[in-house]
Amino acid sequence: MEIWKAVDRYIGDTLVPSDPALDAALAASESAGLPAIQVAPNQGQLLHLLARIGNARRILEIGTLGGYSTICLARALPPDGRLITLEYEPRHAEVARANIAGAGLADLVEVRVGPALETLPKLTGEDPFDLVFLDADKDNNDRYFEWALRLSRPGTTIVVDNIIRQGKVIDANSEDPLVQGSRRLFDLIAAEPRVTATAIQTVGRKGHDGLIIAIVDRAQ
Ligand code: SAH
Ligand code: DHB
Ligand code: MG
Repeated sequence: MEIWKAVDRYIGDTLVPSDPALDAALAASESAGLPAIQVAPNQGQLLHLLARIGNARRILEIGTLGGYSTICLARALPPDGRLITLEYEPRHAEVARANIAGAGLADLVEVRVGPALETLPKLTGEDPFDLVFLDADKDNNDRYFEWALRLSRPGTTIVVDNIIRQGKVIDANSEDPLVQGSRRLFDLIAAEPRVTATAIQTVGRKGHDGLIIAIVDRAQ
């Protein structure tokens, strides 16, 4: 829908100041041939705001791509903060590392390469994360959410991208594994007494989609 895109552009032009490091990250990701599926600028700013609202000092991201959302989140950290971002594709990780360094955030951010289900267990024993952003392979979102809970403390914010899927999420008979992944996540959260959550539909340059936002009430 043209109007959705135009309003996204309006929001971006008015409220989301242009950021040379983010612009450079997008340009470098495009020249490297990465898919342009990063969050929209106003969504990146939402992630930044959520991290600021929660005073996040430790952030975990699953699904780095070229580091666009990573930079939005890491910009919310204090100087001694930390962001760990997990990425499957070595080529994406390489582009992301350069983009993150270009944004002056190399000291705060670590990109770990591998399938997240293999890199997540290595995070146990570290301090809990204050904010977790799930944005990788959507059919594993229910498993990632369980990991996010394991790596959380009471008060941790968990955000999950792309859970509405053009509205297809309401089709219980969908054969789309990404839709079924989203539905498994909704069911898991519905049955999970340790979190308070909601989902917000979004329209804009990325079509009709949405986010789940959850807060951990009890970690165990
Ligand atoms: N968060 C990024 C967009 C991420 S796109 C942004 O908004 O800027 C999804 C990313 O998840 C891709 O880079 C893809 O390679 C990665 N991914 C896919 N499967 C994965 C897996 N099993 N483990 C970790 N990352 C994965
Ligand atoms: C797509 C969008 C996303 O935000 C994402 O994380 C992965 C894929 C897409 O539009 O295909
Ligand atoms: Mg996404």
